[in-house]
Amino acid sequence: MRTQSVASDPALTAAIAIVDAARRDRARRPVVTAFFDEATFTVTYVVRDPGSAACAVVDSVLDYDPASGRTSHRSADAVIAHVRAEGLEAVWQLETHAHADHLSAAPYLKAALGGRVAIGEKIVRVQETFGTLFNAASDFARDGRQFDHLFKDGERFSIGGLDGVVLQVPGHTPACLAYVIGDAVFVGDTLFMPDYGTARCDFPGGDAATLFRSIRRLLALPDETRVFLCHDYKAPGRTDYRWETTIGAERRDNVHIRDGVSEADFVTLREARDRTLDMPRLILPSVQVNMRGGHLPEPEDNGVRYLKIPLDAV
Ligand SMILES: [Fe+2]
Repeated sequence: MRTQSVASDPALTAAIAIVDAARRDRARRPVVTAFFDEATFTVTYVVRDPGSAACAVVDSVLDYDPASGRTSHRSADAVIAHVRAEGLEAVWQLETHAHADHLSAAPYLKAALGGRVAIGEKIVRVQETFGTLFNAASDFARDGRQFDHLFKDGERFSIGGLDGVVLQVPGHTPACLAYVIGDAVFVGDTLFMPDYGTARCDFPGGDAATLFRSIRRLLALPDETRVFLCHDYKAPGRTDYRWETTIGAERRDNVHIRDGVSEADFVTLREARDRTLDMPRLILPSVQVNMRGGHLPEPEDNGVRYLKIPLDAV
């Protein structure tokens, strides 16, 4: 069952053509290296063109200890060491969305490796919501200017000789993107491993029916498309972390949204599960930093940077 009409969706049509071309030609398939941060269950990817030195980094992590308020670059430095050891040149620092469970290291990686920091154009809605929640001062711009590029749905991009296209996949947040690069798709917080299901939809601007339609769009990609997840939490009974699967495996086995699950049934299940979930441990620091494109708030007159904690507001 492919509920998505491909013919009426030019961005999806372009994505399928890119995947098909990569399946025919090894030179169009990205080489993907994953870095897993067990503290936040986040996977950062280095996506490289096999035919050149060009690479992109997807969803980087700035380490943060909420008890001490200390940041560190351990995770990001591992990515930098890999990129330098392989002789690569970063052309993009890609964010799938404004994460609520970890801080982005995109500005730090850009300073070290280069690459334009990009996110979806709907980030302006997220900035408006969280700018209001944190009562950010008027110097917090809500037009996305903290990023180097704001992607539109269906926009094409390249990493050396690799072709990419952006699919907007809202539902978890209004600004979520999936990046189709060759025969791979980096899905952010939409799908998780088939045995774990899907992303939550109870953050501001989230919506389960919207996520259903976004995921059905992703599931219209060819079954052989390699799927790279933003997170893994180990499903019950599984002892190892996994972050790569295929569209075919998700269509067949995803416990929330495999083929045959209706939108109404998905929404009921997703909303019931969301009512049982605690807020992510790092949501308040994460969104304050990530709404600024991964930049920490400016220091106060004593030279110290501060994050805010809104009481009884989330
Ligand atoms: Fe997320």
